[in-house]
Amino acid sequence: MDPRQLPIGIFDSGVGGLTVLRALRAALPGEDFLYLGDTARVPYGTRSPETVRRYASQAAGLLLARGIKALVVACNTASAAALDTLREAHPDVPVEGVIEPGARAAVAASRKARVAVLATEGTVAGGAYPRAIRALDTEIEVEQRACAMLVALAEEGWTDGPVVEETLRRYFHGLFPGPDVLLLGCTHFPVLAAAIRAVAPEDVALVDSAATTAAAVRDDLAARGLLRDGGAGRVHFLVTDNPARFERTATIFLGENPAHGEIELVDIQAAR
Ligand code: DGL
Repeated sequence: MDPRQLPIGIFDSGVGGLTVLRALRAALPGEDFLYLGDTARVPYGTRSPETVRRYASQAAGLLLARGIKALVVACNTASAAALDTLREAHPDVPVEGVIEPGARAAVAASRKARVAVLATEGTVAGGAYPRAIRALDTEIEVEQRACAMLVALAEEGWTDGPVVEETLRRYFHGLFPGPDVLLLGCTHFPVLAAAIRAVAPEDVALVDSAATTAAAVRDDLAARGLLRDGGAGRVHFLVTDNPARFERTATIFLGENPAHGEIELVDIQAAR
């Protein structure tokens, strides 16, 4: 089969990666996507790096077995813990994560060379964002905040109002003044952007990884001659548990309802 006709595989711990899928679809409207949400094992953000690497390897294995031309790790926690492992295991496939593209967006937006990263416990503990940012600019000061509650609020659809704003105030305690960029280093946080805007100082820029990741994937596929010409791309969804819940919450992150019947339940352990 012509590899250009294959879908782009993308995986996340659950629904959050749909914010990245949305950006990928906007940047690559002619491509098909195969999206895997590991809804049986979400969240990844509170798990050990070893466990996240194991989960990520299984997710990548399942998508590759179905036939994909590139793999996008939409989950920040999985990108932070497992990107190198996945690249080593699959040297023939372009594998893109969200950490380096997010770091680039933050560095480009910062004038004061002070960036604050909001992410999961696992992403913060591993230090992948500070490393990626300093690899681009050694002068930049990076502060991090682990904001686990925001994941639950976003999935609940509580994207604005007093509860989310009070939660943000607690996470931001002692953070400002200082950073002029807030890097939303978790798939769920872009849907909370309006609330974050309302609580953070006005002159702070919000950046996330979605658009820069999509651009990186597009450039990589173009360089390898793997872009597909013409036609409206389709998305097929795979979930490891509870397709009905996925369908319900997906709209918050994707901005549209996934087509009914396009959500398939898969057994990730059996796929190994
Ligand atoms: N997808 C995760 C991330 O971007 C957030 C949800 C989770 O903890 O699994 O880090």
